[in-house]
Amino acid sequence: MGKTIVIFKSKTGFTQKYAEWIGEELQCEVMDLASAKKHDLEPYDTFIYGGSLYASGILGLKEMMKKMDAYHEKNLIIFAVGATPYTDTLEEELANKNIPQARKHDTRIFYFRGGFNLEKLNMIDRKLMLMMKKIISKKPENQRTDDEIGLLEAFDQPVDFTNRDEIKRLLEYHQACSRSTDA
Ligand SMILES: Cc1cc2nc3c(=O)[nH]c(=O)nc-3n(C[C@H](O)[C@H](O)[C@H](O)COP(=O)(O)O)c2cc1C
Repeated sequence: MGKTIVIFKSKTGFTQKYAEWIGEELQCEVMDLASAKKHDLEPYDTFIYGGSLYASGILGLKEMMKKMDAYHEKNLIIFAVGATPYTDTLEEELANKNIPQARKHDTRIFYFRGGFNLEKLNMIDRKLMLMMKKIISKKPENQRTDDEIGLLEAFDQPVDFTNRDEIKRLLEYHQACSRSTDA
């Protein structure tokens, strides 16, 4: 079976946790994007990239895709980690927004739920979130979306929805990809 590497970019640790779980299951290398950019990626056949969601964009994915330019023929599996609950249409929406046209036909995105930790955010992100809190708080309670209600609750204490079972779908997909690469 070809060699796989898991590469990730994470701000407060949720995406890193999923990356490490996947690495444990596949018994493969796990590396953050900054290190991967300096690393020779030639020996790998499959890249699993994980990045957290910031305003629906996948952290670091553009840089990762740039690095992947030299490896069109290699498998790429993406996972995104956010605070919002999973919905049936979310992965397709994320794919439409984040995957460049040239790789749309052969690149899957999986969504895993992370959490929210205000204290671990940098100053700019924390300020942004506090501004959002103000805006949501001004809305009448019956007009707030589930996401907004969840967000308000998460300001008081960190929330963690990470769940190791979520990676099963990605692992199955990875196995199917590896089989077709070997054939
Ligand atoms: C400024 C900002 C924007 C965010 N935008 C989204 C979003 O669009 N969708 C979502 O599900 N989560 C969003 N989140 C929540 C993060 O994606 C979530 O906390 C994630 O688990 C962080 O993972 P990390 O610790 O690996 O960076 C946002 C958080 C911040 C601070």
